[in-house]
Amino acid sequence: MYIDDIEGTDGRSLGLVVSRATVADIHERNLFSSIIDTSRGRDVAVSDEQSAAGSVPPATLACHGNPSRHDVARARRVPASTKPIMGKMFSDARLGKAVQFNDAAKAVDQIISTLDENPIALIEVTRLRSKDENSFLHSIGVSTLMIHFGRWLGHDPMAVRLLGVSGLVHDIGKMALPSSLLQKAGSLTGDELAQVRTHPSEGHALLARHGTMPNVVMEICLNHHERLDGTGYPRGIAQNEISKAVRIASICDVYDAMTTIRPYKRAWSPTEAFSSMFRSEGQFDRQLLWQFIQCLDHPGGP
Ligand SMILES: [Fe+2]
Repeated sequence: MYIDDIEGTDGRSLGLVVSRATVADIHERNLFSSIIDTSRGRDVAVSDEQSAAGSVPPATLACHGNPSRHDVARARRVPASTKPIMGKMFSDARLGKAVQFNDAAKAVDQIISTLDENPIALIEVTRLRSKDENSFLHSIGVSTLMIHFGRWLGHDPMAVRLLGVSGLVHDIGKMALPSSLLQKAGSLTGDELAQVRTHPSEGHALLARHGTMPNVVMEICLNHHERLDGTGYPRGIAQNEISKAVRIASICDVYDAMTTIRPYKRAWSPTEAFSSMFRSEGQFDRQLLWQFIQCLDHPGGP
């Protein structure tokens, strides 16, 4: 097995590990996560029976707060069970059909009931994603973070549910972009970047056309790339023009994108992601950012 990185050890790579005892030792330690380069060595062995039974060992995942194997197995079922709902929403959007609030709410209710058991297990599980499932798991990841953060801030259940739905559909406008552009490896040209940057307006137009989504969901869809200092897009609005719900969404969106663990690259640790967001002077709401850190460090409440 080629262990490319162990989070929490300053990017220490173990390289090729041939001894089972060493792998077992890594699992025993209270590490945040490890990244295994499957192009250079073996993957974690998981049988179909284990996978079906939900007893997949948390081999690439050992989280803060030590969630039990049961919690991790339960958390792993959320992406699987919400995938058909998300697939339908995304394909409806691609076909220009209405994205149904009730579909998104169904997925959000599954996320909420899993968060009730162990918030950190689900947040960690959604970080692990391959390239082809990235956009779907990014939506679940952002929704999960927004629900957890909203609850931690003391929002009422209806407001929390709307934050969850907003997280699921915030990038729905990307369905209007050609898939070749979304899947392009490497950097984008200026024209391609401009095209990608139309996704908030495209998403908002799609949701507005059918009128099934509450205002806050549409507002988050349109404004999640806006920044407090006016450097965001699509309109470059700033400060008081950006609501608290949008500020929450932009923090969760960027944090999720930065900390995603992918098979082909080192993920940023939560600490690295927070440092970068704090260094982005004036872009994010600093008080909310501090509270966001605390909601992950002390998931039980302030
Ligand atoms: Fe986006």
